[in-house]
Amino acid sequence: MNYSKYFSDELISLKSQGLYRKFREINRNQVNFPKATERFEGKERAVEVWCSNDYLNLSQHPVVILKSLKVIKELGTGSGGTRNISGTSTYHADLERSLAEFHNKESSLLFPSAYTANQSTLWTLCKKLEGCEVYSDELNHASMIQGIKNANAKTHVFKHNDAEHLEELLKTSDANTPKLIVFESLYSMEGLRSPIRKIIEIAKKYNALTYLDEVHSVGLYGPEGRGIAAEQNLSDDIDIINGTLSKAFGQMGGYIAADKDIIDFVRSFAPGFIFTSSANPSIAAASLEAIKLTKGSDLLRSNIKKNSDLIRKGLTEVNIPFLDNDSHIVPIHLYDPDLCRKASNMLIDDFGIYIQPVFFPTVPKGDERFRVTITPKHKAQDIKNFVKALDSVWTALDLKRSEKVLDADKENQVSKVSKIY
Ligand SMILES: Cc1ncc(COP(=O)(O)O)c(C=O)c1O
Repeated sequence: MNYSKYFSDELISLKSQGLYRKFREINRNQVNFPKATERFEGKERAVEVWCSNDYLNLSQHPVVILKSLKVIKELGTGSGGTRNISGTSTYHADLERSLAEFHNKESSLLFPSAYTANQSTLWTLCKKLEGCEVYSDELNHASMIQGIKNANAKTHVFKHNDAEHLEELLKTSDANTPKLIVFESLYSMEGLRSPIRKIIEIAKKYNALTYLDEVHSVGLYGPEGRGIAAEQNLSDDIDIINGTLSKAFGQMGGYIAADKDIIDFVRSFAPGFIFTSSANPSIAAASLEAIKLTKGSDLLRSNIKKNSDLIRKGLTEVNIPFLDNDSHIVPIHLYDPDLCRKASNMLIDDFGIYIQPVFFPTVPKGDERFRVTITPKHKAQDIKNFVKALDSVWTALDLKRSEKVLDADKENQVSKVSKIY
């Protein structure tokens, strides 16, 4: 085989489909976020960030930074190994206790990322629970799909957020087969919530375990930011909750929280936990501070809500289509990778607005979009300027205007997504 030719042909093909990804070098300003600088063509230019998942700006919080520096000075920068071999510090252990308490569970387990937590936990459960069958929402994150697929578990994909379809699939299941229902509380590309209560009811009826990804809801929803399951008083009814330290908490890493035996089981059998070094203790210490700050951040959470509503109002006024929801995520669909990229380039070149185009495989082909995220540091005037800039770009590129992206578009999108499985 001519390997070089194969790799270069694949890249050429990706580019010809408009799906080749280029990274922008964005250095966020710790004091003045959303201001940042981009290194572009050898020069620095000022930009404003509109697509960060540092939802509460905690990665730049002075208390978190100080804690991080203090622990680096005390313990050094690396953890020294896997958790089994010298990689467990007091900060790791305290963080696991804190996360368990945060989700009202007996225990929790840290992973290098929520991706690994999803992939490795699901892989382990599917492999070890003999004959396990998985019921998975069709818009689940790639990390969950990878875990399930790699384990070769029999998988039933239910229509997005459709509890009736889930039950239809379960009706024909064997009562003796172990079952796992896998879903998210807030879907990150749409900002839509799942019907958690209904799914729990169904899970109980068919004796299935529930696995809930709360990556985009921890820190932002529920009492003290404890997530959507907590908001609905349902944490106790979910068997395993997955979360991240790298979005609202502003650090790096992921975790699961559950009963102590489930956590001990995953700790003992999951390769993605056993065979990888633990996070730098300073990250664990910073995460502990971030969790404390998150609990006291009701005002920030209400600012996020206010700000995202302002964006939606602004977009409605200028007839820019967006997917309506009540979350901190505002998806603006362009349905074309080239147009998405052109609009993104124009926004940064002409208006200093950085918003990354989102396309396949993050979203289905033909469903390219911007995914606007607002933080407490975005001001009302920033939002006005942002909407004005979008309006100008929409005019310059003659992009589709309408009121809102409605369910018809979603239907279409969902049927394309299921091919990812
Ligand atoms: C729903 C969902 N789950 C898991 C992850 C992985 O999170 P992490 O960045 O901590 O690996 C992501 C990443 O964006 C996500 O969107």
